[in-house]
Amino acid sequence: MEFSKEKKTILSGVQPSGNLTIGNYLGAIRNWVALQNDSFETHNFLYCVMDMHAITVRQVPAELRRRTLETVAIYMACGIDPEKSLLFVQSHVPAHAQLGWVLDCYTMFGELSRMTQFKDKSAKNAQNINAGLFTYPALMAADILLYQADLVPVGLDQKQHIEITRDIAERFNQIYGNTFVIPEPYMTKTGTKICSLQEPTKKMSKSDENPNACVLMFDKKDDIVRKFKRAVTDSDTCVRYAEGKDGINNLMSIYSCFTGKTYEEIEREFEGKGYGDFKLAVGEACADGLAPIQAEYARLMADKGYLEGMLRENADKASYIASKTLSKVYRKIGFLAK
Ligand code: TRP
Repeated sequence: MEFSKEKKTILSGVQPSGNLTIGNYLGAIRNWVALQNDSFETHNFLYCVMDMHAITVRQVPAELRRRTLETVAIYMACGIDPEKSLLFVQSHVPAHAQLGWVLDCYTMFGELSRMTQFKDKSAKNAQNINAGLFTYPALMAADILLYQADLVPVGLDQKQHIEITRDIAERFNQIYGNTFVIPEPYMTKTGTKICSLQEPTKKMSKSDENPNACVLMFDKKDDIVRKFKRAVTDSDTCVRYAEGKDGINNLMSIYSCFTGKTYEEIEREFEGKGYGDFKLAVGEACADGLAPIQAEYARLMADKGYLEGMLRENADKASYIASKTLSKVYRKIGFLAK
């Protein structure tokens, strides 16, 4: 992927959590890949695996390492194309930490205290409320501002972090003159919120205690079909999208995502058939839809040397872009040139 100064830049990132659900895929990754394929000719695409953010909560080192590489392979298997997007690992580009520190000094205690993610995470993790968890948004601002990103596709939960990024950038620009592009959040299409197969009013989550509630991207076909067979529905018998039929609505939305069929087409397809037939069809469509991604993932993970080589090259490319912004910032704030 060639970075061009003439083009607008779209940047996003994920934490290396590994093992994603079909909800992550249908709700987020798929949209990102579509955006990349539609706009790569007119936009620079940067995608970063945020391992430095991950250590704000305690990690098992070997697992963090493994999940970082797996995350890279998952995104590539889903269609992030190295020809169209620059995919790299945050800790490979020291400028994130360097600009992160500078921005810490332009971010206020009061504004960090108001971040809902900080409040939630510190409530859940009372024994490890570390400074990194608190200054997380300033590091995230560095991730974005280093590349002069115009657009940042994120879910709703990250919108507040984009707002603080804009505030930090505007504050810096006010003091030192135009330095950073002010990024816009880009809310990815909604409508594909995938719910639990067991409690279809709740979002599908991989941490659900009931293993039948969520389908993982790397589940085997038999397991996928079995989980859909056991999906909770209702006492009606008719496959149609309607208020109060949360289970069926969720299955219809999954089926529609994998087959491209509209709700009317699905209703017609299953007219006069029971829920059993429908659940089987959804399970098969899901397993068939995931099969090529699973195969590509296996192929990539079998060649770790290739992945690591690509990440090294991409780290150099990202560092080069980032170093332009970092030196500008260092000069403006008065650091002595070396
Ligand atoms: N905070 C984001 C999350 O938890 C991950 C992230 C870190 C990010 N830096 C970013 C997302 C920069 C977009 C841009 O999902």
